[in-house]
Amino acid sequence: MTPPVADVTLAVRFSKRMRAVDLIRKKRDSGELSREEINFLVSGYTRGDIPDYQMAAWLMAVWIRGMNRSELAALTEVMLHSGEVLNHSEILGKKVDKHSTGGIGDKTSLILAPIVAAGGLTVPMISGRGLGHTGGTLDKLEAIPGFNVNLPLGEFRRVLRQCGMGLIGQTAEIAPADKKIYALRDVTSTVENIGLICASIMSKKLAEGIDALVLDVKTGSGAFMKKEEDSIRLAEVMVETGQRMGKKVVALITGMDQPLGRMAGHSNEVVESIEVLRGRGPADLRDLSLDLSSWMFYLGERTKTVEEGRRLAETMIATGQALEKFRQGVRLQGGDERIIDEPERLPIARLNYHVASSGSGFITGTNCEGFGIALAMLGGGREKKEDKIDHGVGLEFHKRIGDRVEGGEPLATIHYNSDAKLAEAKTLIASSYFVGDEAPQEKRPLVRRIVGA
Ligand code: URA
Repeated sequence: MTPPVADVTLAVRFSKRMRAVDLIRKKRDSGELSREEINFLVSGYTRGDIPDYQMAAWLMAVWIRGMNRSELAALTEVMLHSGEVLNHSEILGKKVDKHSTGGIGDKTSLILAPIVAAGGLTVPMISGRGLGHTGGTLDKLEAIPGFNVNLPLGEFRRVLRQCGMGLIGQTAEIAPADKKIYALRDVTSTVENIGLICASIMSKKLAEGIDALVLDVKTGSGAFMKKEEDSIRLAEVMVETGQRMGKKVVALITGMDQPLGRMAGHSNEVVESIEVLRGRGPADLRDLSLDLSSWMFYLGERTKTVEEGRRLAETMIATGQALEKFRQGVRLQGGDERIIDEPERLPIARLNYHVASSGSGFITGTNCEGFGIALAMLGGGREKKEDKIDHGVGLEFHKRIGDRVEGGEPLATIHYNSDAKLAEAKTLIASSYFVGDEAPQEKRPLVRRIVGA
């Protein structure tokens, strides 16, 4: 028989000694956890006193039962204070950052960090690894031979002072709780939850010592939030959390019902980012990178309007300053800067396979998550925490929603090294494109809405 929630609360109170098992049960039975209880779980797990299996059970209980506003605030703050909250007051000027909730082919961090740093602001970016079916900035950067995303704090500060941008992962010092919990959520199907996503993103972003933050909240079949109303709710709680902590925060709700740009996979995405920094590359990726950069310039008080911010971002690309900033950033973090002019120095898959369309018509939509799952299957993502990523594996998308396609024409190209899962990946990719007789009537803008402006 399931004990009533009140009994469990009493048991916890009178036993004095908190136990993870009681808190898992409390959440399982829809109870509300106090700040002290959340702190017990998160700190215990971060220290290694609470094992993965108990944290995984609690995360699943949260995924199913949800958290109210005060639990969410407590979780974010406990995770934020699991490490140091950086203070870059010795660096003059505003510090701004951007964070995306994750998607397929979403590589804008690699583009906008150098644009914004070249434009005069400081970007102390703390990023994550791939999560679920989505890619992560840290994994993409590690495709660059030698690039070190684990800089000690002193070194991170030196890089920021020298070039205005630094991209690292959580460390033992910065939001270590998120680092551990994030890796566990990735392999326990506990990612797609508004409270857990908000606490994860905001804890590491608020630890960065920034003045302003631009959030890119994805919506659609390749996002964690498939429905626009859920993405808007997620954006609202994140904006509210950031503003409560005294930061300027804006969220752009952007479409993820097809991949961003033409490339997914680690080396592929580095190459495509460099293309955009050269003033080339696909229009959707270029536009979104400019939109996000212009909000960063505006919130960082570098420009008086968002429009002026966009002009500044365009100038940083047109004059080559953004590309030079990227080169400097790669060099300072130990990466081989020769990859910028010689992309063949990146790890590249040996084999290619074209996935052809079985029929003729128009692309009416995609199951974008399917592309991310196929990529992970081929080695471009993790199924277990310990899995190593194959940076050379990638997908190249030839067709977008609304495009005409003929039977036998390639929809996508797979770059792969091992054919162990190739058949499965091919089928998944082919079935993730929807082909119909008519092109969709409505072309929705990539930026659907802005929250917190
Ligand atoms: N990005 C993060 O950093 N955390 C999440 O939970 C989801 C996306």
